[in-house]
Amino acid sequence: MPSLAPDGPCLTRHQSVTARVARVTRQRRGPFAAGDQAQLTDPKGRRHLVVLQPGRSFHTHRGVIAHDDLIGLPEGSVVTSSGGTQYLALRPLLADYTLSMGRGAAVVYPKDAAQIVAMADIFPGAAVLEAGAGSGALSCWLLRAVGEAGVVVSFERRADFADIARQNVTRFFGGPHPAWRLHVRDLPTDLPADLLGDWDVPGGQLGDVPGGQLGDVPGGQLGDVPGGPPGSATPQEAYPGKEGFDRVVLDMLAPWEHVASAADALIPGGVACCYVATVTQLSRTVEALRGHGGFAEPSAWESLVRGWHVDGLAVRPEHRMVGHTGFLVTARRMAAGVSPPLLRRRPAKGAIDGGDPW
Ligand SMILES: C[S@@+](CC[C@H](N)C(=O)[O-])C[C@H]1O[C@@H](n2cnc3c(N)ncnc32)[C@H](O)[C@@H]1O
Repeated sequence: MPSLAPDGPCLTRHQSVTARVARVTRQRRGPFAAGDQAQLTDPKGRRHLVVLQPGRSFHTHRGVIAHDDLIGLPEGSVVTSSGGTQYLALRPLLADYTLSMGRGAAVVYPKDAAQIVAMADIFPGAAVLEAGAGSGALSCWLLRAVGEAGVVVSFERRADFADIARQNVTRFFGGPHPAWRLHVRDLPTDLPADLLGDWDVPGGQLGDVPGGQLGDVPGGQLGDVPGGPPGSATPQEAYPGKEGFDRVVLDMLAPWEHVASAADALIPGGVACCYVATVTQLSRTVEALRGHGGFAEPSAWESLVRGWHVDGLAVRPEHRMVGHTGFLVTARRMAAGVSPPLLRRRPAKGAIDGGDPW
């Protein structure tokens, strides 16, 4: 079934799908091309991120490397600067990228992003609500996990941070990601009605969604919704999130203020996931989730990752590690009107001094 791409030509479904996949993954494989990012690692392990542009050069105190020397090379090549230093050239992994990209707000560390993707169960095609977008690091992870068939609706209250997030996400994916909606405003507390209004594509036309035709989403079959040809699905059919989000991920100062709206936004069985920096935030978030009554018992944890030095017989933990980044909390949404089962274990004496501990 042919579909009309935004810029005009009539493509077969396969061609169109291939073009869209190629766009979003353009920077991820094949020889280095103009516009790609190259991560150059020197013999001391120092990394430099370069966007390749014909005629430009990368200058270091160890000499100069012409971008043209990199363009056309396969990843994993070694280039030598004019000063004789060798650099390993690779595309940055997302973990590398999020640690080296420009920042406004502090980013979610890769170890925590991995935990969020795994433990909040971010899946291809999921509808995810995110706040705040900050520098866009977690947005990149979420977008990569949901893919083009999903949707990530992100809120960021600060315009300057939102600009940085937009730049970072766009640079990583090599263009605007078709599944991303970034709202520069506070996450509303009256979430559903407000968000559903904002989220409607103009006139209900799926073809108006940035990035092209929803009917072309690879494998997502958005256009194959029963009852219509590609592109004829209603927004509700195309975006399951129109009925509610599968996941809500909050990385913000006061997630407990948004527990009720997260509950309203989530489908039954959906996952709320909060990332907080301090134990007081952790405690308050968990108690708010418990106190709401619409979530199953929350889980809370942190992850510590310790690198190992492995060199012949010298095999030991690294002397240094990132000691603390943040705590994670997840909780599953109960069905409407259903309360979680009473816990069989009693709170420790003195844990709750009557009523809301906060
Ligand atoms: C720690 S940063 C998020 C970093 C982001 N997850 C990343 O990986 O780049 C927290 C962000 O939440 C934003 N924020 C705080 N409260 C908010 C709210 N109520 N609505 C929207 N954004 C909010 C802040 O402006 C800040 O940019």
